[in-house]
Amino acid sequence: MQKRLLLLFRYPGQQLNSSEIKTFISDIEIKLRGQLSSIKDIKGLEDFRVQALGKKSELYSVLRNIGELPPEERKLAGESVNKLKTILEQEISVLEAELKKKAGAERLIADAIDVTMPGEYKRLGALHPVTQVMEEIVEIFKPLGYSVVHGPEIEHEFFNFDALNIPADHPARDMQDTFYLGADTVLRTHTSPVQARTMMQSKPPIRVLSPGKVYRSDYDVTHTPMFHQIEGLYVDEGIKFSHLKGTLLYFAKRMFGQDTSIRLRPSYFSFTEPSAEVDVTCVACKGKGCRICKGTGWLEILGCGMVNPNVFKHVGYPESTTGFAFGMGIERIAMLKYKINDLRLFFENDARFLRQFS
Ligand code: DAH
Repeated sequence: MQKRLLLLFRYPGQQLNSSEIKTFISDIEIKLRGQLSSIKDIKGLEDFRVQALGKKSELYSVLRNIGELPPEERKLAGESVNKLKTILEQEISVLEAELKKKAGAERLIADAIDVTMPGEYKRLGALHPVTQVMEEIVEIFKPLGYSVVHGPEIEHEFFNFDALNIPADHPARDMQDTFYLGADTVLRTHTSPVQARTMMQSKPPIRVLSPGKVYRSDYDVTHTPMFHQIEGLYVDEGIKFSHLKGTLLYFAKRMFGQDTSIRLRPSYFSFTEPSAEVDVTCVACKGKGCRICKGTGWLEILGCGMVNPNVFKHVGYPESTTGFAFGMGIERIAMLKYKINDLRLFFENDARFLRQFS
């Protein structure tokens, strides 16, 4: 730079002709444009701005030393330098905008989210299979006009036994089966006490279902100390055994499929008379006979019967009242429906087991 400036101001007082000044400035322009065209980023552009237009730049030196030029050339030199300055400033700002845009685009790409990456996903829980089956049973009975009622799990002996015509010396009261909490308080051994409670609280017609937990001192592949039952009770004028049978056939078909049949075997429950146990067509072999149904083609699902007049007497109804009742184990229904062979699986809370029902 020094050399070029010397060239320009070599002969102080000497008339420099216009074309020499023009050439000098245009040399600077060519050099600066060359530099400008190779700038790649904002940092480079900032450096260039300082170097080309700043206080130490060649162009600035020309302006500073302009007084030494012959008066005739001062104007030309001043104008040429200012023109070049303006052009360079414009080009710098155009390039600056371009570089900023490019940098922005590059940042967008660098920061971009890859929407094809597998997301972090929280597994949703689901209702326990016992709850699902319980709700399904309730849904099946709803169209028949049944509503849901609940009773306490800590129950008075009267409702759990006496009101249901189970006398004090009955083996069902045996300490080995029943969890006694006090002299006359038990963990209910079945949902049947809700029958008695409902009848004492309301008048016929009664159509109720009562699902819930029950407790018995038992533990093996098909017994756990806590399990679930659902009780059904229909009390009205003129209720016959055929109503019970029709209701249960409807339920069995809805629960296990339209090709399901039922059969009733005479049985004994102190709170129903007559009583029956109900079997459905084996879900595995469809009645042909297999290991699951022990070759019979049938699987037992519930107990039922016509409400014993003694029960009506206990709850203060006339003995001529008619009604039927039924009760079933929910886990048993779930085991048959989903072909589960160990009752205890329901209560071990193994996520791999439970996940299959979500
Ligand atoms: N409570 C009986 C049990 O736990 C089941 C049962 C049988 C309920 C017959 C009923 C019924 O309502 O009529 O084994």
